[in-house]
Amino acid sequence: MNEFFLNPFKPGAGHMPPHLAGRDIEKQEFLYLISQKVILNNMVLTGLRGVGKTVLLNTFKPLAIQNNWLWVGADLSESASVSEGNLALRLMTDLAVLTSNIIIQKDDITKIGFHSESNSVEIKLTFNYLVALYKKTPGLVIDKLKFILEFVWQSIKDLNINGLIFAYDEAQNLSDQALKEQYPLGILLDVFQSLQKKDIPFMLVLTGLPTLFPKLVNSRTFSERMFRVIILKRLKENDSREAILKPIENKNCPVKLTDKSVDIIVKQSGGYPYFIQFICRETYDLFISQLKVGKDPGVPINEITRKLDSDFFAGRWARATDRQRELLLIISQLPNSNEEFAVQEVVDLSKKNMEKPFSNSHVNQMLNSLTTAGLIYKNRYGKYAFAVPLLDQFIIRQGKNNE
Ligand SMILES: Nc1ncnc2c1ncn2[C@@H]1O[C@H](COP(=O)(O)OP(=O)(O)O)[C@@H](O)[C@H]1O
Ligand SMILES: [Mg+2]
Repeated sequence: MNEFFLNPFKPGAGHMPPHLAGRDIEKQEFLYLISQKVILNNMVLTGLRGVGKTVLLNTFKPLAIQNNWLWVGADLSESASVSEGNLALRLMTDLAVLTSNIIIQKDDITKIGFHSESNSVEIKLTFNYLVALYKKTPGLVIDKLKFILEFVWQSIKDLNINGLIFAYDEAQNLSDQALKEQYPLGILLDVFQSLQKKDIPFMLVLTGLPTLFPKLVNSRTFSERMFRVIILKRLKENDSREAILKPIENKNCPVKLTDKSVDIIVKQSGGYPYFIQFICRETYDLFISQLKVGKDPGVPINEITRKLDSDFFAGRWARATDRQRELLLIISQLPNSNEEFAVQEVVDLSKKNMEKPFSNSHVNQMLNSLTTAGLIYKNRYGKYAFAVPLLDQFIIRQGKNNE
């Protein structure tokens, strides 16, 4: 037995798995998008938390670069209420990483009507330079941004590249705020649509929770046509098996799993990548300790489930009030709790199963607050779904524990 073979599994947001299973169709789709000469389609990559959006986005980057595309981007987790000005700064910050070593001639600047204070004949497109140019450009944020992006394209288009990708993770955090008259999302969409109409190959790749695409359409209806939406789902059975077995197939790996153990992990994880990594990581450690004391290893699924409940679900569950928990329990008992459901279905089941059933308006109101708490989301067609994978099974377990 090789004691130094480290546990390869990586449960954690954005942690690259030891083997990225499946996702061939999604990669093909991305390759198609970067084969466009004129950008008619951009990408939205969406799905529940833990389904593998971030790591898939990270694997697109080398694919893009191999195909002569440039790549800039950022994680928007922290930008809950970004203003238009902040959006412009965000784009220039990301661009500058790429352009700060690009040198242009002072002549080129004066030709387009700008006076340059610099004495040298060569100018570098640093962040400070872009911001100064942005400030000097007349007009609204949208005019300034268009100008900067077009200017950058003029400066890089002879580098023999196919285009430039702007990749934003957690993009559901972008919001228009009518009350504050700030429309960063609308501006982002307007700017890219305008550039793409001029055949400038700048493409948006946005990833985020299922609320992302409805938000885009809400801001600009043309988003319907502007984006190909890829909904990332749980892994298929074969791919789940690969995600479990590939990382331990090395002959030096001390952990071997029987078919039965693999079956248990596939079933218990529901094929959700985060849960696969979590269960496999725990199983691996337990196997190692059991092997040391000469025990016959198996997958201790109850113990692992308990740990998953406290590590992953409990924090989210804690955000719900007692009455909200009663509602969630009813929803978990719907035959379609794992898919989408309508308010009326919940009302009907509560009449059947509860002494104090919920009224229609009550359910509506509670689903709204549960949406804000991040436990539920509303899809484009006005139906609801759990915002956390396998939450229904967790809730049923809670219900049983309380009996
Ligand atoms: N295709 C895959 N195969 C195996 N594990 C994966 C796969 N995709 C994601 N994972 C694992 O799942 C977890 C969640 O991935 P992440 O990209 O952070 O999800 P999301 O961004 O959708 O919340 C990580 O631990 C990652 O290693
Ligand atoms: Mg992510």
